Amino acid sequence: MQRLALAGTRAIVDMSYARHFLDFQGSGIPSAMQKLVVTRLSPNFREAATLLRDCPVPLPGDGDLLVRNRFAGVNASDINYSAGRYDPSVKTPFDAGFEGVGEVVALGLSASAAFTVGQAVAYVAPGSFAEYTVVPARVAIPVPALKPEYLTLLVSGTTAYISLKELGGLSEGKKVLVTAAAGGTGQFAVQLAKKAKCHVIGTCSSAEKSAFLKSVGCDRPINYNAEHVGAVLRQEYPQGVDVVYESVGGATFDLAVDALATRGRLIVIGFVSGYQTPTGLSPVKAATLPAKLLKKSASVQGFFLNHYLPEFRGAMDHLLKMYAGGELVCEVDTGILSAEGRFIGLESVFRAIDYMYMRKNTGKIVIELPPSVNSKL
Ligand SMILES: NC(=O)c1ccc[n+]([C@@H]2O[C@H](COP(=O)([O-])OP(=O)(O)OC[C@H]3O[C@@H](n4cnc5c(N)ncnc54)[C@H](OP(=O)(O)O)[C@@H]3O)[C@@H](O)[C@H]2O)c1
Repeated sequence: MQRLALAGTRAIVDMSYARHFLDFQGSGIPSAMQKLVVTRLSPNFREAATLLRDCPVPLPGDGDLLVRNRFAGVNASDINYSAGRYDPSVKTPFDAGFEGVGEVVALGLSASAAFTVGQAVAYVAPGSFAEYTVVPARVAIPVPALKPEYLTLLVSGTTAYISLKELGGLSEGKKVLVTAAAGGTGQFAVQLAKKAKCHVIGTCSSAEKSAFLKSVGCDRPINYNAEHVGAVLRQEYPQGVDVVYESVGGATFDLAVDALATRGRLIVIGFVSGYQTPTGLSPVKAATLPAKLLKKSASVQGFFLNHYLPEFRGAMDHLLKMYAGGELVCEVDTGILSAEGRFIGLESVFRAIDYMYMRKNTGKIVIELPPSVNSKL
C-alpha cells in the first residue's frame, strides 16, 4: 500500500484513497494550482508556453516529495527546451522549468525515511515553473533555508564547478577567459578560477556588469560595448589564454579560439547568441578550426551538465560549504531593475526570459513565488 504524509495534518494516509478522494483537505494544500506548460514547440517562450491556472496539484509517489516552490531559476536553455531541442521526439504539452527551491508539503512513505514535511529543499528536475512540483527524493537536496542563493548553485554553480574541475586543468597563474562572465553561471566560473589562483578575464556588456565582475575578483573585466575583446586580448595577453569558459558562441567563440595559448583549452558551455534563431546555432568559422587547433596543440571540448550527473551531488555539497563559509558570492537578479519590477509569480517568467535575452541580468535570474500562508519556514 502506498502512503503519503501531508503538511498541516502531518498524517500518513493511504495513497490510493488520497488519489481519489482526499483533495488535500486540512493540509493547507489546494486541489488546483498554476503551472507553465509548453503547448507549442518554439524558441520564442511567449509563443511556446501557456500559464495554466487550474491544474490538479500532483500527488507524490512512494519515493517522491511534493514541493511547494518558493523560487524557480531561469536558464538560457529554457528556450531550447521549449523548442524541443533537448529531445527532438518530445510531444507537447510538457512542463517547463529546470530547477527550484521550496518546501516539502507532502511525501511518500519511502521518501519520509530521509525527508519531512516542512523541510527546505533544492532540486534540478523538470516542471519547476509551477506552484507545486513532484520531485523524486533521490534528487532533492536539503538546504538550510528557503533562500534564492541556494537556487543559483543548482544548474549554474554546478555547471561551472564540474566543467572547470573535470576539463579546465586549472592551476596557479593560468589565464582563464570567461564569456558571459556576469551571468548566472559565468559568475561562478570567475570565482572558482580565482580560487584556483588563476588570472581571470571576463567579458560582459555594461559598466555595471564590469563593476560586479571586479567585486567578485575578476582581474580584467572587458565590457564589449566599450572595448574590442579581440584587440584587448591581443594587446594584453600576447601569449594567449590557457582556458576559455565559453557560453556565447558565434563571433565570440571565434575570438576565443584565436586567443588560445599553445596547449590552451576551450570548454564549450553554450552558445546563447544562437538560441533565439530557428536552428538554435550561431555560425562559427568551422573550416579553419582544425588548422587553428593543430597549430597551437589546442583543444575544444563540450560540456553538458546532464552527462555529469554522478558528479552533481559532490559539486553541490562543495558549493554549499563554500557559500556557508562566506567563500562564494551567489548573485541573484530578482528583476528589481527591470521595467516592471521584481519577478514575482509564474506570469513573470515570460518577461524574465525577455530580460535575459535583452542581456540585462547580472547574476542568476530567479523567479519568486509568493510564500504559502501555511509555510513553517
Ligand atoms: N552546458 C551546460 O550544461 C550548461 C548549463 C547551464 C548553462 N549553460 C550555458 O551557459 C550560458 C549562460 O546561461 P545562463 O542561464 O547562466 O544565462 P546568463 O549568463 O545568466 O544570461 C545570459 C547572458 O549571456 C550574455 N549574452 C551574450 N550574447 C547574448 C545574446 N545574443 N543573447 C542573450 N544573451 C547574451 C548576456 O550577458 P552580457 O550582456 O554580459 O553579454 C546575458 O546576460 C548559456 O550558453 C547556457 O546555455 C550551459
